[in-house]
Amino acid sequence: MSMAIEKAFDLKKILSGNKALDIDHDRVGVIANNLLSEMSLMEKINQLHGSKNTGDMGTEKGLYFSGNDERLGIPPFKMVDGPRGLRSGLATAFPVPMARGATFDPELEKRVGMAIGREVAAAGGNVLLAPTINLLRHPGWGRAQETYSEDPFHMGRMGLAFVSGAQNFVLASPKHFALNNLEITRFELSSDIAKRTLHEVYLPHFKRCIVDAQAASVMSAYNKVNGTYCGEHFELLENVLRKDWGFKGFVESDWLLGTRSTADALNAGMDIEMPSAYWFKPEKIIEAMENGQVREETINRNVLRVLHQKIGFELEKEVAFPGKVIECEEHLSLAQEVAEKSFVLLKNNQTLPLRGTEKIALFGELAVTENLGDRGSSMVRSSNVFVPFDGIRDWSDGVDISYYAELPEAKVFEASDLSIVVAGLTYLDEGEYIPTLDRESSGENLARGGDRASLGLPHQQEKLIKEVATRSKKTVVLLEAGSSVNVSSWIGDVDALLLIWYPGCEGGKAIARIIFGEVDPYGRLPVLFPKSDSQLGDWDVNSLTVEHTLFHGYRYLDMNNEKPLFPFGFGLSYTDFLIRNLRIDRSGSGFSAIVSLANSGFRQGNSLIQVYLSCSDSKLERPQKELKGFGRLSLEPEEEKDLEFEIADDDLKYYDDETGWELEPCLYTFSFGFSSEDLLLSETWRFDGSSWKKN
Ligand code: BGC
Repeated sequence: MSMAIEKAFDLKKILSGNKALDIDHDRVGVIANNLLSEMSLMEKINQLHGSKNTGDMGTEKGLYFSGNDERLGIPPFKMVDGPRGLRSGLATAFPVPMARGATFDPELEKRVGMAIGREVAAAGGNVLLAPTINLLRHPGWGRAQETYSEDPFHMGRMGLAFVSGAQNFVLASPKHFALNNLEITRFELSSDIAKRTLHEVYLPHFKRCIVDAQAASVMSAYNKVNGTYCGEHFELLENVLRKDWGFKGFVESDWLLGTRSTADALNAGMDIEMPSAYWFKPEKIIEAMENGQVREETINRNVLRVLHQKIGFELEKEVAFPGKVIECEEHLSLAQEVAEKSFVLLKNNQTLPLRGTEKIALFGELAVTENLGDRGSSMVRSSNVFVPFDGIRDWSDGVDISYYAELPEAKVFEASDLSIVVAGLTYLDEGEYIPTLDRESSGENLARGGDRASLGLPHQQEKLIKEVATRSKKTVVLLEAGSSVNVSSWIGDVDALLLIWYPGCEGGKAIARIIFGEVDPYGRLPVLFPKSDSQLGDWDVNSLTVEHTLFHGYRYLDMNNEKPLFPFGFGLSYTDFLIRNLRIDRSGSGFSAIVSLANSGFRQGNSLIQVYLSCSDSKLERPQKELKGFGRLSLEPEEEKDLEFEIADDDLKYYDDETGWELEPCLYTFSFGFSSEDLLLSETWRFDGSSWKKN
């Protein structure tokens, strides 16, 4: 009997509805050129910077305006953050992107992009300043929660899905281009990198957002790359983005210090200075033109890029939405679905799922605290936030739960079946760094943020976990954080650990559905959990120069022959799975690989199969393994299905400094399994320079 085959990844489905793909660029080019020919120099310059006209710093209800022209009828861009939801008034706060990364589910991420895009459009915005796709070089980065992953392949799929979803409604703006992965020194930092590493590790996900999803714009980064500010980096903005990738959109600067010059920035391909004109003030641009530093053709080129997207996306048309869009039922239930699919079960000594009849003692301030993530530019405020206590208490009539702000007397522990501790980080521990702000803020305002110098929990919380664990019959920890945490000092003391990230406004409800077993844990780690901080190598949050090499995260541990505490891609389920029957064949310019996955346990469950590539006789230094595919299946007990992966030859290539992407004659091993450390099936193929043979 032949089994149903599901595709691990369906690009066509992800790209559907993305307006950028319907643009007739030739036609739009003609219209843009005609418009340009009617514009005075001042009108052209007006397209190249944010405007202060609509309020302080050009922001009105969180929207940043640029390039409004009433005479010519050119609509303004109305830009708004960001990655976890609309940052304007009250909106649906989705789980942070790192949580969404843990779903390993691009189709779900596309729906999140659509929902956020729709809320942005309903609030009057037309450019969404998201997704953040800076690779997580180290989990201590303050903005780790804002990105998806430590892995470029995974990041590429999640990023392109978000862009494509958002561009059903608005223009998306992947950011920050490029190598922005340390907060405290972000305005001065030089991220140093060799060309090969840049293309193989730190740029592939940007490329996917541009080439596949046709992102309409890109935000540059504050930092320097190899000594040159990203906002005036000709190699990045012109050669890579446009010449190599065919980018047709515009580049806007990151905010206050994202533009550093007039002529260098304009010439390098910085199209719009945000949030308002400083370097791109008319008098400065005119002076640079008079000095011969900027040519009129350059101004025209940059203006055309801006006009092209305004015309292509038909920004002059007002969009009307019938009914409530912002915080509508559909978006709130999506936020809940995403939350429950993002939680990662890291440890389970036959404790979860709970039966719902236990007497539960609940601990930790975070059990009763709204904790949606940092208070940087991606902060979102919602009308209602379901904290863990709400969700568990409301689960069913039978739940017997009491919250204790202090450690109670021994008899409480004796009378309880188990304790749940909600522990973790908050905006005080990690977040976007805004040096002019206070460290603490009321829930309304932004706060200073910064990187984490070390990965442990605040001391008080470690102490609380240990104290509760020694007194309780069983202890479950729900961990809130934006990336990995060093849990080594207490993981041995607890019975179960569920990573819930910053779970968004519906998080509490999602927690209940997972811990009471209504749904099977779905999330898997998009960033490894190390055994110790030192396992990840040097990390100095005050560095002004950071050398980026081919090895970080699981690649770095592989190179040192070390094992993490919880590997990349890891996560437990309430049931058991097995994979078997691997079949790999050549198909076009790549491979088709089919594996069977069976649910060998007693309940429905969700599994994620990952594919890693290794090159065993390469002439180059290559990571021991790299993720090259992943796909999910949901299976009933005893059900078995086939999952098909397409692996393109392009995904096997390395980057040669002189000639670009090359397919090396070499032995390629494809390994399949449940995490980067749990690879169960593999097959090796040899490429001799012209043909392929199974080894
Ligand atoms: C952040 C961007 C954000 C912008 C506007 C900057 O400081 O780095 O990610 O989009 O502010 O809020």
